Amino acid sequence: MEVVVKESYEEMSKLSAELIAEVIRRKPRAVLGLATGSTPLGTYKELIRLHKQEGLDFSRVITFNLDEYVGLVHGHPQSYHYFMSENLFKHINVNPKNVHVPDGTAKDIPGFCRWYEEQIVKTGGLDLQLLGIGSNGHIAFNEPGSSLGSRTRIKTLDDKTRQDNARFFKNMNEVPKYAITMGIGTIMDARQLILLANGAGKADAILKTCEGPITAIVPATIVQLHPKATIIIDKQAATKLTREYPAEPRVLVLA
Ligand code: PGA
Repeated sequence: MEVVVKESYEEMSKLSAELIAEVIRRKPRAVLGLATGSTPLGTYKELIRLHKQEGLDFSRVITFNLDEYVGLVHGHPQSYHYFMSENLFKHINVNPKNVHVPDGTAKDIPGFCRWYEEQIVKTGGLDLQLLGIGSNGHIAFNEPGSSLGSRTRIKTLDDKTRQDNARFFKNMNEVPKYAITMGIGTIMDARQLILLANGAGKADAILKTCEGPITAIVPATIVQLHPKATIIIDKQAATKLTREYPAEPRVLVLA
């Protein structure tokens, strides 16, 4: 695991987009695991720029999103289907057939989760998984206490997560209580991980993730066990770290 501290959110986003772009350039049929939330927005903006200005080609790229709220229809403005379409997919040349976002409206959720896992395996597995981190240390919607070997499944959202995400809904009652999420085992099977965090609100979770013991109570700490993980953070998220970390990764391409 490598920790990289950038001066700003913009620089952090540029580096993460460049690492993703390099995977696509080396393997045009790359299988990417994508994340939602405010953190990856800068990365997506930069990937869109690379597509429009430098011809980064997504035509053969396959994507799998980490998670989705249960019960929100795909067109709901807070659904992750909508988020991905608005913030990335509609601006690049990805083939809609190659896009996978968990279906929060599935009638048979356990069946859907098994199918999702099978699809990831069928495509050859995730080449790179992009991750944010919750202020409670969650990755995707694997909340504190999640099994470190878990697979795609339905999870009850933590109160803290619902409060953090309430800003996107009219009131707390509207915030979904359940989500479908890739498991921690699913995420750890990816050949490369990038975990992003910015802002002081993530400083505690980042301290535990980078320097704390591995524990299911802080699911992101599992990243310490991944052989090709890069944690890219801005200065504010780094304020509680006790060690010095570089501003550039040792090798730009880890895959
Ligand atoms: P955020 O969410 O990017 O909106 O802070 C991250 C997460 O909850 O994983």
